[in-house]
Order: sequence, then C-alpha cells, then structure tokens
Amino acid sequence: MTAGDFDAGFLNRLGALYDAYVDEYRGADGKLPPMMQLKREHTAFVVANAKAIVAGERFDEHTARVAVAAALLHDTGRYEQLKRYNTFRDSDSVDHAVFSHDIVREKGWLAACEPSVRDAILNAVLWHNRRDLPPCDDAVTVAAAKVVRDADKLDIFRVLERQVATTDWRYDCQAFWNLPTTAKPNPKAVEAIMAGRPVDYQNIQSLADFVLIQVGWMASGLNYATTRKLVVERNHLPFRRDFLHQITDSPFVDQICDYAESRLS
Ligand SMILES: [Fe+2]
Repeated sequence: MTAGDFDAGFLNRLGALYDAYVDEYRGADGKLPPMMQLKREHTAFVVANAKAIVAGERFDEHTARVAVAAALLHDTGRYEQLKRYNTFRDSDSVDHAVFSHDIVREKGWLAACEPSVRDAILNAVLWHNRRDLPPCDDAVTVAAAKVVRDADKLDIFRVLERQVATTDWRYDCQAFWNLPTTAKPNPKAVEAIMAGRPVDYQNIQSLADFVLIQVGWMASGLNYATTRKLVVERNHLPFRRDFLHQITDSPFVDQICDYAESRLS
C-alpha cells in the first residue's frame, strides 16, 4: 500500500497507513504498551506543531505538505525499537531516525510520490535527531527538516513539563537519564550554550544541564519565528527558570535564561 499521489488527500492516506502500522503493536485489548502510547501522542503533538509552524511561516502548500508528512513519520521506528530492544535509548539500541527512515522506505508508503518529494520526506525523517543538518541544496528538504526539528523540540518542552509534574523527580530521576538532581551546571555545557553551540552529550552531567540545554535551544536552536512565538505563548522559558531555581542556586541559571529571553523576543 502507498499513500498515492501527492495531492490534497495525501496526508489523510498517509495517516491511515501510519495508524494501521501502529495498530500492529497493540495488545489483545486494543491498547498500545504505555511507552508506545506516549510516542503515539508525541507524534500527534509534533504533527500539530508542524501544522502551526507551516501556517505561521506561510509556506506554500507543497512544502507544507512535505513538512507535515515528515513530522508524522519522524518517529516511526520508535515502536519497533521498543519491541526489539526494550529501550528508547539510541546508544543502547539503534539510531531511531535511521530506523524510522528505513521502515518508511521498506513499507513503500511513499513509493507513488515523485522522487524529489519522497527524498525530501525521507531525509527530513533521517536528519531529525542530528546535531547539525547536513549540507543540502534542496529548499523543500531543508524547510521540512527544519520544521520537524522545531516541532519535535516544542513537544520535548511539553514532555519535560509533564514529567516534572507527574514524577517524584527529586528521588526518581529515571525520566531524566538518572542524572544527579542537585549537581551544579557543568561549566562546559554553560559555555557551549552561551556561545550558541550545541552541547555535547558527554557534557550533560546534571539535571540542571539537561534543562539548560532546552533553554539553549530557545536561545539559538530554533529555526522559525513561529516556533519562538509558540515557546513564548506556552510559557516554556518561565517554567524552566522556576524549575532550575528549585534545583540549583547557580548564577548561570538567570544568565542563560535572560539570554534566551532576549533571543525569543
Ligand atoms: Fe525522534
């Protein structure tokens, strides 16, 4: 089965194929295992964010459709990753973006699309978790990849806030990679954020670093003005400033949050 021509009904048909695929992971009771259900919900939020970004940026219909399709498919491999390896940690299993790309290609959902459309969607999926986007001179691919990366980050902001609200994070930091909750920010992470550089994963050594990285995205990791506007509307920065004050008295907190605030306005 393919999603067929890249016309107005394309996203609906692709959505139906995606849902039928996810249904294969449901138990006899019709439910997904809870961790998979969270990924399904994440995907729905990422799609909604992508739609908001392409509307806010007034993208043409073609580019918008490519971007939203890539948002729908970006985490396709998460279900099989959890089933096979019982973890979402890529370093202990597979690169889930490569896995997602390969599954979408093997399923042939995009087989009826023009090669340029198919490649744009597949590359946006493949590149969604890379530290940096590889060089690419196809404007539609670049736009779709940037939308997916922004839409994904917006939902990562939502997920952190839900985890803080629903877990006893001072004692059980499993949702935050078991990082020490009271350790001060790593100066190397702070330096990278203030310089507008991505933080290397080995420099994430405390819960504060984990949260500050997200503040760093707000300062320099978001591609579109619409994304930054949504961050402001959803109060994601004040939430992190308050939370960081609860976990550390480091002066870096206000320094980085002030910097992000200036970049968001
Ligand atoms: Fe992902």
